[in-house]
Amino acid sequence: MSFTNEIARRRTFGIISHPDAGKTTLTEKLLLFGGAIQEAGAVKSNKIQKSATSDFMEIERQRGISVATSVLAFHYRDKKINILDTPGHKDFAEDTFRTLTAVDSVIVVIDVAKGVEEQTEKLVEVCRMRNIPIIVFINKLDREGKDAFDLLDEVEQKLGFKVVPLSFPIGMGYDFQGIYNLWRKRLRLFDEANKTRIADAMDFDDINDPTLSTHIGEQAAATLREEIELVTEVYPAFDSEAYLAGQQQPVFFGSALNNFGVQELLDCFVEIAPTPRPKSSVERLVAPEEDNFSGFVFKIHANMDPKHRDRLAFIKVVSGTFERNTPYLHVRLGKKLKFSSPNAFFADKKEIVSVSYPGDIVGLHDTGNFKIGDTLTAGEVLHFSGIPSFSPEHFRYINNADPMKAKQLAKGIDQLMDEGVAQLFTLELNGRKVIGTVGALQFEVIQYRLEHEYGAKCSYENLNVHKACWVETPDPQHPDFKEFSRVKAKFLAKDKQGQLVFLADSAFSLQMTQDKYAALEFHATSEF
Ligand code: G4P
Repeated sequence: MSFTNEIARRRTFGIISHPDAGKTTLTEKLLLFGGAIQEAGAVKSNKIQKSATSDFMEIERQRGISVATSVLAFHYRDKKINILDTPGHKDFAEDTFRTLTAVDSVIVVIDVAKGVEEQTEKLVEVCRMRNIPIIVFINKLDREGKDAFDLLDEVEQKLGFKVVPLSFPIGMGYDFQGIYNLWRKRLRLFDEANKTRIADAMDFDDINDPTLSTHIGEQAAATLREEIELVTEVYPAFDSEAYLAGQQQPVFFGSALNNFGVQELLDCFVEIAPTPRPKSSVERLVAPEEDNFSGFVFKIHANMDPKHRDRLAFIKVVSGTFERNTPYLHVRLGKKLKFSSPNAFFADKKEIVSVSYPGDIVGLHDTGNFKIGDTLTAGEVLHFSGIPSFSPEHFRYINNADPMKAKQLAKGIDQLMDEGVAQLFTLELNGRKVIGTVGALQFEVIQYRLEHEYGAKCSYENLNVHKACWVETPDPQHPDFKEFSRVKAKFLAKDKQGQLVFLADSAFSLQMTQDKYAALEFHATSEF
């Protein structure tokens, strides 16, 4: 198959949702359609995620939270589909944000009863910043939930979407009879008594066809006709360009647990979802079709094997082909590296791969060369943009609790920060180290991993920080900057890249500082 055909058949996407909306279950059903796993009757929903990721981190098993992000690839029709799994837990939101830099599109799962939840709003905001094409899947139709039109309104209002329903439910909960697929003009009935069997879809080009009532009853047929009429009046027609530009979001209804409505979603997804998209770098826009390889690290997995403490860096191929045993330029280090055993990921296994194409994710064994955001190329100096650090929410001093293990502690902290577990700030005044995290849980993760992987012990001390802001000055000699540096010395730190950060202790003090030193800029992210 030609290089351009390989690109054209790839779809790399992520599924996002508030925890418990059904992301894992949907992932599992998609894999079933792809034949990547076998039908096992009522497979427990979290099974895939757990078996695919729990080897990576013991801590995840202990806590029952998916700490890690995994990659699951499968084939459907002639397409190669890469699902980048994202942790739903809010304390690992930053991990999800970074994964979103590597997807070309997104499916958002919403619970029909709960509607749009907090975590969904946050994640969608990040997608919208990058204009990522989004499809919505409204899940759990076998349960009583909100009225479909109310829910569509809620999705538009809370997520800022312009929705286009491409399927519509017939009843809900106890009365749920199936869906009408507006995309293909088909009816698919739900067999409550036999959930493992999915009835074949029936073509219904004309919803006014009188035989409709023989399948769903007079009443339901009349309601469906009214609703479909309303849908076509109220919502715009599907427009591929608008979807790809992130300006229109198709919606599907179904029940992931019952494998219902999932095929409609998948069939439409493979048709409309984007092929690997160009990516901007500091230097220029890089197109997938370019001959020369380029890619970037969006995720580092540690502790694949605790005995060897090796890590796996996940690279998204942006352009060209990534080939085994070929030297590539590690741009930040300015040196060439080659990889003898790059991994490709499938639902149930990972295997060594000789060639990977744009859109693919390659796992590279790493002994400490990679950081999140690093770029690899065939030789060109490129820096892919778009993996910023956000201000952490929680800050604590980190202290060495075992003086004999200072070196191990330093190394452990260094590597955990490279993985993006948390952010490290070093105070300008006294060199004390401060850890900043998105969720309180990460402090425990860090403590646990330092002990189990590096043999080091740490303790924490509270520190009152409202927000970390990256400081930009027009000139280091500017009087505002000089005074600011003197007056606020106690609150200044360097991040791991050596950038200056102001650790404001309250919203008020941040505002005052901004007003007082007007020549300076205070940025909410590390990329400005
Ligand atoms: P998540 O990854 O988004 O956190 O959600 P997950 O798939 O784990 O699903 C959360 C719960 O919702 C699971 O139940 C799952 O079985 C259930 N669920 C998913 N899809 C549907 C659906 O279409 N209909 C109904 N009724 N339930 C659904 P659980 O009891 O928490 O877990 P389990 O014991 O079933 O594994």
